[in-house]
Amino acid sequence: MKNKTVIITGASGGFGKRFTHAFLKAGYHVIATIRDETKKPLLLEGLTPIEQGNVTFALLDVADKESVNKFGSLVKELECVDVLINNAGFAVAGFAEELSIEEYQFQLETNLLGVMRVTNHVLPKMRQKGNGRIINVSSISGLIGFPGLSPYVSSKYALEGYSESLRLEVKKFGMDVVLVEPGSFQTNIWSSGTHMSLKAGNAKSPYFELFTGMNKRLQKDRESYGDPVEVANLVLKIAEMKKTPTLRYTVGKGVRFSLLAKRLLPWKVWEKIVLSQLRNKD
Ligand SMILES: NC(=O)c1ccc[n+]([C@@H]2O[C@H](COP(=O)([O-])OP(=O)(O)OC[C@H]3O[C@@H](n4cnc5c(N)ncnc54)[C@H](OP(=O)(O)O)[C@@H]3O)[C@@H](O)[C@H]2O)c1
Repeated sequence: MKNKTVIITGASGGFGKRFTHAFLKAGYHVIATIRDETKKPLLLEGLTPIEQGNVTFALLDVADKESVNKFGSLVKELECVDVLINNAGFAVAGFAEELSIEEYQFQLETNLLGVMRVTNHVLPKMRQKGNGRIINVSSISGLIGFPGLSPYVSSKYALEGYSESLRLEVKKFGMDVVLVEPGSFQTNIWSSGTHMSLKAGNAKSPYFELFTGMNKRLQKDRESYGDPVEVANLVLKIAEMKKTPTLRYTVGKGVRFSLLAKRLLPWKVWEKIVLSQLRNKD
């Protein structure tokens, strides 16, 4: 039987690398998109020669129109695309008052518009074949707003809305759009994957106390962040599901509890809890 084809954006590390390995082990042909060719060997580490042979690398910066159009030409040449995983993403952090519109645009270019650009090249392929699954990697930040992260949160909330609409549009063509909403996992997003606004962390900022509290909380919790393999297993399961997958899949420690608490508690109680956890205390 012919291998199924999956496109994975942002495959160089973090979730993307785990997705690539999981799909290769399941026998897929993986189109692994990366921005930097030097990261290829890292992605191939630990794979058998057969698995390595099932990877096609493609250079893709989802925030760059030309790069996406070039990638679109490659997509056109493919016989079919069974699964698209829109995974590429990063976080812009900082406080709204201190952030420029350009910093919000910078965030949206990748996390939202990047997904739309890539998806538009893949949709005709899937529609012509009458099936396909699009899995958009959202976040708990697409369902809960956190201080200091409004660009990231805005991008993921918008991704949720886009995915909901798209799901309803393409249903009749045999396609499924799915959102995966992870909590906190051990990837590079907490270091190289975060662009801190230039003004954040300035001791004279009115938001400095909140900034310090958030950093302390981050350091304290970091050890307990989940293994990204858990998310890879879930994404593979969704791709392989015989029945129609539902729209949303949450994953990660405490995610369901937080969502339930946010839904059931009065807002005033909820915000007290969130802010008390970020208070700058030793
Ligand atoms: N880790 C978590 O706790 C967590 C939780 C919820 C959601 N997420 C989401 O999971 C996805 C993957 O993030 P991660 O946690 O695996 O972080 P990561 O380790 O930093 O990986 C991010 C990946 O996205 C790529 N990327 C970033 N901007 C790109 C662009 N403009 N074009 C193409 N590729 C780009 C990076 O490529 P380079 O190597 O070239 O930088 C890298 O391959 C993101 O959408 C993120 O929002 C993560």
